[in-house]
Amino acid sequence: APTTLFDAYGRPLQYLRLAVTDRCNLRCFYCMPAEGIQYLPKRELLSYEEMERLVGIMAGLGVRKVRLTGGEPFVRRDLLPFMERLAALPGIEELTLTTNGVLTAPHVPALARLGVRTVNLSLDTLDRRRFEQITRRDELPRVLDTLYALLGAGIRVKINAVVMDGQNTEDLLPLAELTRELPVDVRFIEEMPFNGGSHAATPATLPWHHRRIREHLEAHFGALSPVLARPGDTATHYHVPGHQGRLGIIAAYSRTFCGSCNRLRLTAEGGVKTCLYDQGVLDLRALLRTGAPDDAIRAALTQAFRHRAANGFEAERQRPLQQLSFESMSTIGG
Ligand code: GTP
Ligand code: 5AD
Ligand code: SF4
Repeated sequence: APTTLFDAYGRPLQYLRLAVTDRCNLRCFYCMPAEGIQYLPKRELLSYEEMERLVGIMAGLGVRKVRLTGGEPFVRRDLLPFMERLAALPGIEELTLTTNGVLTAPHVPALARLGVRTVNLSLDTLDRRRFEQITRRDELPRVLDTLYALLGAGIRVKINAVVMDGQNTEDLLPLAELTRELPVDVRFIEEMPFNGGSHAATPATLPWHHRRIREHLEAHFGALSPVLARPGDTATHYHVPGHQGRLGIIAAYSRTFCGSCNRLRLTAEGGVKTCLYDQGVLDLRALLRTGAPDDAIRAALTQAFRHRAANGFEAERQRPLQQLSFESMSTIGG
C-alpha cells in the first residue's frame, strides 16, 4: 500500500490539482486581461500520456484525489477518454474538475458514468449583463444549462464566486439564495492577485475579506455558525436552517487554511508548485523528456514536497513588489 508523504510541517500529500491546459474560452476580469494571455504552444504542454504517467507516480506517493483545472479543462480535446484513464489508476479515489461550465453540459452524462461525484462550477453572477462584463463573453445561459444538467445527473455542485469590489457585490445574495431550493454549495472567494496583469492588484488591502463577506451574508440570513471543516478544506461552510445547500467562504487571499494544506499543483507545462504562490519548484516536463525513470521522478517529487514552504505567500512577499506582477490563474490552474 502507498505510504503517505508528509512535509516538514506534518502536512500530507493527498490532493493533486492538474492543469490540463492554460487556455480558456472566457476572459474573466480577475484572471486575465481582455486580450487574453500568451498561450503555450502545444509541444510545451504535457501530453495526456505524460500526465497519466505522473499521476500514476503520485498515486504511489499517496495522492488520492485529482482535480482537473485549466484554463478551462473542456477546451482541451479528448478530455473524457483521458479522465477515464485517470479514474482507472490504482489509488485514485476521487476524480473531479473545476469548470466554467460553457462547454460542460453535453458532457455531464459521461461525467456521471465515470463516477465523478462533485464538480466545482465558476459562476460570479446570475445577471446576464454583468456576467458578460465580468467574463467578457455572453455565455451565462450555457453555464446555467450546465448547472441544471449536473444537478439532474445527481452530481454535487459547488459554485465558486469570486467577490470583486464594485463588480458583483450585488450578486452575492442572489447567488446565496440558490442554496434555499437547490442542493448546491455556493462558495464566495476572496479575490487574489493572479490576474495576468488585467488590473492593478492591491496586496495591502482587500476590500472584501472573508469577515466582511460573512457579515454581508449574516445581515441577510442571520447569524451563521460554521459546519465542522475537513482538514485541507479551503472553504468554511455554513448551514442556513431550511436550506438545501450550504454557504461557503474561501479566504483565498487571507489564507486561513495553509496549516492543513494537502495539495500539490501541476501546471499545464509540467511545472510543480507546492503552493499557489511559489514560482514552480520542479520541472517535471524536463525530467520526463530526458528519459528519467519513475524512481528519479518519485525522488524529485518527494524532495520538492518535503521542502515546501509553511506559507508560500509570506515567502513571496520578501520579493520586490514590482516582481509580484502575478501570473494569470489560467496558467497556474487555480
Ligand atoms: P475542493 O476540492 O472542493 O475543496 O476544491 P478547492 O476549493 O480546492 O478548489 P477550486 O478549484 O474550486 O478552487 C476554489 C478557490 O480556492 C479558487 O479561487 C482557488 O484558487 C482557491 N484555492 C485552491 N487551492 C488554494 C490554495 O492552496 N491556496 C489558496 N490561497 N487558494 C486556493
Ligand atoms: N482570485 C480568486 N479566485 C480566482 N479564480 C480565478 N482567478 C481568481 C482570482 N484572481 C477562481 C475561479 C475558479 C477557481 C479555480 O479559481 O473562479 O473557480
Ligand atoms: Fe477562464 Fe477560469 Fe480564468 Fe475565467 S477564471 S478566464 S473561466 S481560467
